[in-house]
Amino acid sequence: MNDSQGEPRGGISRRGFLAGTGAATAVAGVTSELAPATAAQPGAAPAHGPGPVLLQLTVNGQKVNTNVEPRVTLLDALRNYLDVTGCKRVCDRGTCGACTVTVNGRTVYSCTMLALEARGMDIRTAENLGGAKLDAVPAAFVDNDAQQCGFCTPGFVVSLRAALDKNPNATPEQVEAALAGNICRCGTYEQMRHAIVQLCKKGG
Ligand code: FES
Ligand code: FES
Repeated sequence: MNDSQGEPRGGISRRGFLAGTGAATAVAGVTSELAPATAAQPGAAPAHGPGPVLLQLTVNGQKVNTNVEPRVTLLDALRNYLDVTGCKRVCDRGTCGACTVTVNGRTVYSCTMLALEARGMDIRTAENLGGAKLDAVPAAFVDNDAQQCGFCTPGFVVSLRAALDKNPNATPEQVEAALAGNICRCGTYEQMRHAIVQLCKKGG
């Protein structure tokens, strides 16, 4: 029995069948275009995963190993697999700088780098500036009360240490420019400026 549109109830009409198969053909065409190549291309980068893959890093001078899925970021590998929690997850999208670490001496937002991209590299986090002998940068933050909640602080001190290592004679303005990728939601910038002036007077 047909309804008012001429379609059989509880079954598939000729028009419905053709429409359905047309859509299916279109979808099949799209998926086959997007399907990854199964054969390895000559010279192509090796494929990893989807299961866990061995990750070897040097973190704050120590060689470490763990297994991570290829989708895991460097930030998550450090925090969740290696218990290195100085780098903070705040925006998780490369806008705030709270997750800043150095990778082979370059400052990097660790939330925007895959852990496997850092394999074999030298990673330094805020923990590297603490310990028994406090580095001059966090010491200047303490002297000048340059933090409130402290979530941004590990990223700031890593970026600031990197800036002074690169140019020990940097002016406060040059250091501030190097910190442009770090944001403090508590607005502790004035106290941080005092810490920067102190560090620049001492030459880092
Ligand atoms: S958490 Fe990485 S930039 Fe904000
Ligand atoms: S001290 Fe709270 S975000 Fe900077």
